[in-house]
Amino acid sequence: MKKTILNTLSIGFATMFFISCGSAGGDNPGSEYAPNMYVSEAYEPMTQVATEDPNAVNGSNKINPLGMNMRLPAKGTIARGQLDYATYSSPNTYQAYEAASALKNPIPATEENLKEGKRLYNINCTPCHAEDGKGEGTIVKDGKYPRVPNYADRLPTIDEGRAFFSISHGKNLMGSYGSVLTPTQRWQVVHYIYQLSGVSNTSANSSK
Ligand code: HEC
Repeated sequence: MKKTILNTLSIGFATMFFISCGSAGGDNPGSEYAPNMYVSEAYEPMTQVATEDPNAVNGSNKINPLGMNMRLPAKGTIARGQLDYATYSSPNTYQAYEAASALKNPIPATEENLKEGKRLYNINCTPCHAEDGKGEGTIVKDGKYPRVPNYADRLPTIDEGRAFFSISHGKNLMGSYGSVLTPTQRWQVVHYIYQLSGVSNTSANSSK
């Protein structure tokens, strides 16, 4: 009886010893048992195991080019509902900045758009431009960031098209928001900063 217990225990310990022997470390999680519990055997577009092993579960795709599950979209195609990204794709050059003056805010300055513009502005822009738009945001006050213009001084020297361009591409020390805000969101913020600083929106005036 005693011997059986001893045998069972030693088999148990031996198994644990072997299981813990997977070469885990760094990015390697070690041996994986029943991997198809973690990774689908069917080709899944959003997951793919990066491995050279041709027999790996959901490894190299044997049908698609480059062994990829997810196909690249055909060149020049635009995802549904994202046409406005193409409308406003311009190179980040001084000439394009000047030409942006011709852009008109395509969305109306409704209460709803201004409210959303304010929300986005307070999230993304206030550390530098401050809630009142005077350019004394927290990181400017802390002395970590120099020379953020007061909208009341700067906006009259540009127009909403160039404001939109600078938000999309960034300008000098200011980073780009082209990948953070959709074109519509950028226009909502443009409406809001004009309202915030009490500067009349030149193109809205000229289109009257
Ligand atoms: C990290 C600090 C920082 C953040 C965050 C920031 N800005 Fe700026 N912004 C600047 C600085 C600095 C300038 C002056 C750039 C120059 O003219 O050299 C500037 C300039 C501008 C201008 C004038 C552009 C022009 O063409 O003269 C606009 C409009 C503007 N910012 C809007 C925004 C909006 C909207 C956001 C948020 C989505 C934002 N900024 C976020 C630092 C910032």
